[in-house]
Amino acid sequence: MIRMGIIGYGYWGPNIVRNFGTTDGCRIAAICDQREEALKRAKKAFSGVNVTTDWHSLIEAPDIDAIGVITPVSTHFELAKAALENGKHIFVEKPFTATCAQAEELIELAERKKLTIMVDHTFIFTGAVRKIKELIDNGTLGDIYYYDSMRVNLGLFQHDVNVIWDLAPHDLSIMDHVIKESPEAIVATGQTHLNGFEDVAFITLYFPDKIIAHLNVNWLSPVKVRTTLIGGEKKMLVWNDLEADEKIKIYDKGVQITNRQGLYNLLVNYRSGDMWAPQIEQGEALQRELAYFVDCITKDKTPMNDGEAGLRVVKMLEAATESLRQRGALVYL
Ligand SMILES: NC(=O)c1ccc[n+]([C@@H]2O[C@H](COP(=O)([O-])OP(=O)(O)OC[C@H]3O[C@@H](n4cnc5c(N)ncnc54)[C@H](O)[C@@H]3O)[C@@H](O)[C@H]2O)c1
Repeated sequence: MIRMGIIGYGYWGPNIVRNFGTTDGCRIAAICDQREEALKRAKKAFSGVNVTTDWHSLIEAPDIDAIGVITPVSTHFELAKAALENGKHIFVEKPFTATCAQAEELIELAERKKLTIMVDHTFIFTGAVRKIKELIDNGTLGDIYYYDSMRVNLGLFQHDVNVIWDLAPHDLSIMDHVIKESPEAIVATGQTHLNGFEDVAFITLYFPDKIIAHLNVNWLSPVKVRTTLIGGEKKMLVWNDLEADEKIKIYDKGVQITNRQGLYNLLVNYRSGDMWAPQIEQGEALQRELAYFVDCITKDKTPMNDGEAGLRVVKMLEAATESLRQRGALVYL
């Protein structure tokens, strides 16, 4: 039985507590938040659970095996490091840390102490992303041409990071999971309008083999959009995460150029075949992810979303930040 201590019960923390609470092989031992108001909510939802404003008491408790760090990014390193130093496994929110140096230090510490790090890359546990990975891995889409994602809505403004560090980790972790190649270079542009942090941003990633990715992340959109296009040589896919059914549609559409001798002799064939929507696994991604966390600890397995996966995402975020500061300079990874 893995006994969990959860630090951070703001917007996302309640989802983590609820799902750990219903995961076999683990139980919530204590919840910590520095705000009394948050603890009141926690007590109301989980009447028997211990609550405290002091995170040290969770990290030092001998009857706690693992700590969930569900606090803002700027606090992840301090809390995760203290937890590892006290012999606790850690489940840390995305993005893993605020810098690559911090991520590397935590990875080294966990290795030395033989402890598990899992970074909450929730999307890779969704039925939709699992299906996309299957369609890429089994060759249905063919060679990938591009990944183009729009992840926009009104707010929620974060107080310690810009929109890239808030929303882009989702797409960066999805691409890290489904595309075999790693990006070589990144270009990011964006603008601040309200609180000094960029609230609108556009990111381009260059991969080997001519794969290109584009992410549009925005806290100032009047409507919520979660749409991703993945173009492949054989098939093209549209993933609309806001659709209740038929989240993924696969189009048998494509272009073939049969004659390359001179511009005017190009023979461009457009293929426009069927569209179908594959079955997607139902169930909550977080539930699947947390069961996997417990499984990795009890069976001593390295999670696919381990500290290294978290570090790869932070590397891309750091490079995007460097590019952003130079108004879209090409930054090599
Ligand atoms: N995986 C996802 O899909 C997803 C979704 C939303 C947020 N997140 C991540 O979850 C984390 C938290 O985001 P949020 O939106 O819940 O933020 P939030 O501000 O709503 O909540 C954070 C909570 O942590 C508490 N806290 C901060 N420092 C603390 C400390 N030292 N000790 C005790 N409590 C402390 C705050 O009081 C607050 O209640 C972020 O890293 C964010 O990126 C992930």
